[in-house]
Amino acid sequence: MERLDKLLASQGMLSRREVKELIAKGRVTIDGVVGRHPERKVTTEEQIAVAGEPLRVQRTLTLMLHKPQGVVSAARDARDKTVLELVPPEYRRKEMFPAGRLDKDTTGLMILTDDGALAHEILAPKKHVPKQYRVTIDIPMTEEMVRRFAEGIELKDGRCQPAELTIESEHTGVVTLREGRYHQIKRMFGCCGATVTGLHRLSMGALRLDDTLAPGECRPLSEEEISLLRQQRLPE
Ligand code: URA
Repeated sequence: MERLDKLLASQGMLSRREVKELIAKGRVTIDGVVGRHPERKVTTEEQIAVAGEPLRVQRTLTLMLHKPQGVVSAARDARDKTVLELVPPEYRRKEMFPAGRLDKDTTGLMILTDDGALAHEILAPKKHVPKQYRVTIDIPMTEEMVRRFAEGIELKDGRCQPAELTIESEHTGVVTLREGRYHQIKRMFGCCGATVTGLHRLSMGALRLDDTLAPGECRPLSEEEISLLRQQRLPE
């Protein structure tokens, strides 16, 4: 049982304001009867239609978040603000969790979902879903670093899978990883004598961070975007 307005807004197509307007205009029906009360509780059994179109209620919700600096990606933290606290009330779900971690000072694309199977598909090393990061380091990037990343850098906890480093300017480059270990990029550059001074995740699978999302903002993903997320190829 959920409030009609909350359920509609949580589907991601309509803002809360648009939902209010549609209900007020009598464009929302429940089992064929106009629903005029936003607070009306609806069940999964009832068929809701918006402007005559039956609503297929999504059971799971997956959000794209532009993670800002200074926020931790753990589900709970006693000291710091967490990524889940950035989610507006209409998108909050009890079971929602971050699919993968970013360091507190790392920015960029994070996926929050209550779909455990999806999270597994994106994160399991065997699935080889690529993650791309823009990295800034304190010393000039070198072809030697590109070569070492491609070979697979040896870390204390074992050799990394081959990673791509594309140099963009003297101090910045794009790294593509197909696994996700603790502080992996920072440690890989550490092995090359460099310190990472900026790290931003650009994409996961074939899905790029929506550049209209300001840091701290999130929005639901469409079915098509979720399928991009699962892919092993890079974004176009
Ligand atoms: N590698 C890191 O070192 N930190 C991140 O947040 C992500 C990848």
